[in-house]
Amino acid sequence: MTIYKQSKYGHVLPHETGVTFFNSITLEVLEGGEEDAEVWRSFEQPRAAGGTADATEQVLVDAGLLVPVDRVEERRLLDKLTDIRVTQRKTRSGSFKFLRMSLTERCNLKCDYCFVEEVIYKDLPKEAAPTERFLEHVEWLIQQNPNGWPTVQYFGGEPMLRWDLIQDTTRALEEAVAAGRIAGFTHEMTTNGTLMTSERARWLVEHEVSLTISLDGWKEINDRHRVFHNGRGSYDLVIKAVKEIRAAGGEPQFLITLLPETVEILPKIVRFVVEEIDAKSVAVNAPQPTVDGWEVDGLALSRSVQESWLFCNSRGVEFQSLGAFLVELINQRRPQPDRCFEGNPTGADAHWGGYVAADGSLSFCIVWHQDERVTTPSVHQIPKERVADWHYDTASVDDCDGCIAGMVCGGPCTLERLLNGGGLNPDRCKFFKTMVPFVLTRPSIGAPQ
Ligand SMILES: C[S@@+](CC[C@H](N)C(=O)[O-])C[C@H]1O[C@@H](n2cnc3c(N)ncnc32)[C@H](O)[C@@H]1O
Repeated sequence: MTIYKQSKYGHVLPHETGVTFFNSITLEVLEGGEEDAEVWRSFEQPRAAGGTADATEQVLVDAGLLVPVDRVEERRLLDKLTDIRVTQRKTRSGSFKFLRMSLTERCNLKCDYCFVEEVIYKDLPKEAAPTERFLEHVEWLIQQNPNGWPTVQYFGGEPMLRWDLIQDTTRALEEAVAAGRIAGFTHEMTTNGTLMTSERARWLVEHEVSLTISLDGWKEINDRHRVFHNGRGSYDLVIKAVKEIRAAGGEPQFLITLLPETVEILPKIVRFVVEEIDAKSVAVNAPQPTVDGWEVDGLALSRSVQESWLFCNSRGVEFQSLGAFLVELINQRRPQPDRCFEGNPTGADAHWGGYVAADGSLSFCIVWHQDERVTTPSVHQIPKERVADWHYDTASVDDCDGCIAGMVCGGPCTLERLLNGGGLNPDRCKFFKTMVPFVLTRPSIGAPQ
């Protein structure tokens, strides 16, 4: 008779109507009642299966939640993740489908937390690349996606300072569609909104640019940090921009940036944006990595994201944030082998994202781009191995093995590991360790069947 033990990768999460069983290697999810949880608990000390509740025992065995007592469990999760990474390195085509283009490093605002000023560009000359250079990148993206559907994001600095480039890029993409080279494209802009006019709003809506406007909350909160060079706040102009976009028939997404002192009031901010500004789509910026973790505490962020997500769901408002992709990964039982959590790294539609800096160089990390480890002077000479190294580095951190999020968090990304010397990122751990149980036990957010 086989003696079974609880698998180190078995997790049991109580919720309002019962318990959720989760296998953190296979991502299998099972629903059960208190009596099933009791069966699970009865294996805290290994014992033979086949007692009075043997149907449940068999289900738990089949799901790999109970395993033979002599099964060596060490590194099973990490080894599986490594295998997937090795395979991905060999099989991924290396094509790019998303380009974030920093049209300029200049900005008419001077937000005091901005990474563009503080982290990345502080020592760099602010020389802009010529228009042709940007269009060369766009042409390259088109070539990467024959009959496909690439995405360009206008970013900065403030992208609306380069209205000419937005129009030139749009023209190039539209011509590519007209010539049958690509099936279509998505273009989106992240903007501070202050340079919007009714004419521009009409043009943007007409050309179907998805608009994301940065807004950190009500006037007092927003204007504490999102200010012009003379210190004046931007809130009133953002509200004006929203009116212009709506008058033109569009609807922007609102993008909130959190600081250590605002992370706990995110739910209040989201409620404000939904109730007072009538937002239909709200997004939260991912925190910037630092040598110690993230700029905001991972646990506080997780709690705030959870509350905000449930609120948006209850109001039929779209909610985007770090962690939202867990629903899809778990529902489709798809591990996260790619070190990047910013792009769209897994699944049938998997693609890589690139960042075109305002000086015209291309990086294959969409966050970090002034570093020779990730940049390439010419888009025509990107060695696939370098990109694969960045995305599928097989180094692992032992502690990820028993983590409930081990297979869907992906561990610290390559950039985080470079910054902190290769170890775990404590904020990432706090965030994903709590987000996974949340997603697993809230059917209302579209979580696991
Ligand atoms: C760098 S801005 C560029 C586009 C445009 N100027 C804007 O304000 O939306 C893009 C987004 O990054 C956000 N951001 C800037 N610094 C950040 C930081 N340290 N952590 C997280 N997000 C940050 C901004 O608030 C904004 O939502």
